[in-house]
Amino acid sequence: MAPRSEPLASGRGALDPMLPRVARVRRKRRDAPEVWTLDIEIENGGEAEDFVFTPGQFNMLTVFGVGEVPISMSGDPAESRRLIHTVRAVGAVSAALTDLGPGDAIGLRGPFGVGWPMEEAIGRDVIIAAGGLGLAPLRPALYRLLAERARYGKIILLYGSRSPGDILFRHEIESWRRSLDIEIEVTVDHAASDWRGHVGVVTTLIPRADFDPLHAIAFVCGPEIMMRFAIAALRKAGLNDESIYLSVERNMKCAVGLCGHCQFGTVFVCRDGPVFRHDRVQGLLALKEI
Ligand SMILES: Cc1cc2nc3c(=O)[nH]c(=O)nc-3n(C[C@H](O)[C@H](O)[C@H](O)COP(=O)(O)OP(=O)(O)OC[C@H]3O[C@@H](n4cnc5c(N)ncnc54)[C@H](O)[C@@H]3O)c2cc1C
Ligand code: FES
Repeated sequence: MAPRSEPLASGRGALDPMLPRVARVRRKRRDAPEVWTLDIEIENGGEAEDFVFTPGQFNMLTVFGVGEVPISMSGDPAESRRLIHTVRAVGAVSAALTDLGPGDAIGLRGPFGVGWPMEEAIGRDVIIAAGGLGLAPLRPALYRLLAERARYGKIILLYGSRSPGDILFRHEIESWRRSLDIEIEVTVDHAASDWRGHVGVVTTLIPRADFDPLHAIAFVCGPEIMMRFAIAALRKAGLNDESIYLSVERNMKCAVGLCGHCQFGTVFVCRDGPVFRHDRVQGLLALKEI
């Protein structure tokens, strides 16, 4: 499968893709219970280094002495010196990442993988369907879409979260909503009586969204059960499989197509994904682990 956007590990020049570079945490912000956004910089002789990435790509982050995990870029691709990652503490390495603070060192390899098809979205309505932490890998795509607003049709963000307290990037969502450049619907699984928005799963927002299915493209990211239902709802709304893209997560080690940890048939999730056109990986969603 040919990569659609940046070549593998773009932006690293001739550096060895297996060799972590040392970066430092500059800022850290809590976005939800157990979820932290880390702002890091790669140090190069006291200067922050430029880092080029495509929305949807990921880095391998190392907490020294603990381990290495894949984490998507969640920041603005136009801000090449600020590397932003949003991490949920689920186990040893991700919890150690969220425990880091300003000044702490971190290992970084990347960027890796194939991201969202930004070029294919030009001239079309773009539906972004995100569940929970799935908004993080989609945020760079949103920054790019909004920075180049005139190139796209409608931009529609449909976001589902467990509760109002779990909504990521809340202030940013509000400011995007005020800008009127994007239609935004947020729903939560459950909420107290002071919540004025939708209650229910994110897939219930799809039939209500107003877009032209023949000229639309959808980017989907979230828990796999959410993605399965979102894809079914998008198809029902008239999108074909060639217009639906999703980001999949699988166990990874090397991130460069060598170790086979993420292999599914002829596909390596680290190298050919994590973003795939739906029809190319239909069987993959049914498999919990490769
Ligand atoms: C391409 C890619 C991009 C990713 N982007 C992000 C991101 O932006 N932010 C983020 O927080 N996480 C992201 N992840 C998931 C992250 O890599 C895992 O949560 C992490 O590897 C878990 O490692 P651990 O040592 O903390 O936990 P482990 O001890 O390995 O696992 C702890 C628990 O988490 C579960 N778990 C492990 N890996 C995953 C996974 N991939 N998805 C869901 N549950 C998992 C395990 O089954 C186990 O129950 C991404 C994964 C991939 C493959
Ligand atoms: S993680 Fe090694 S081949 Fe994909």
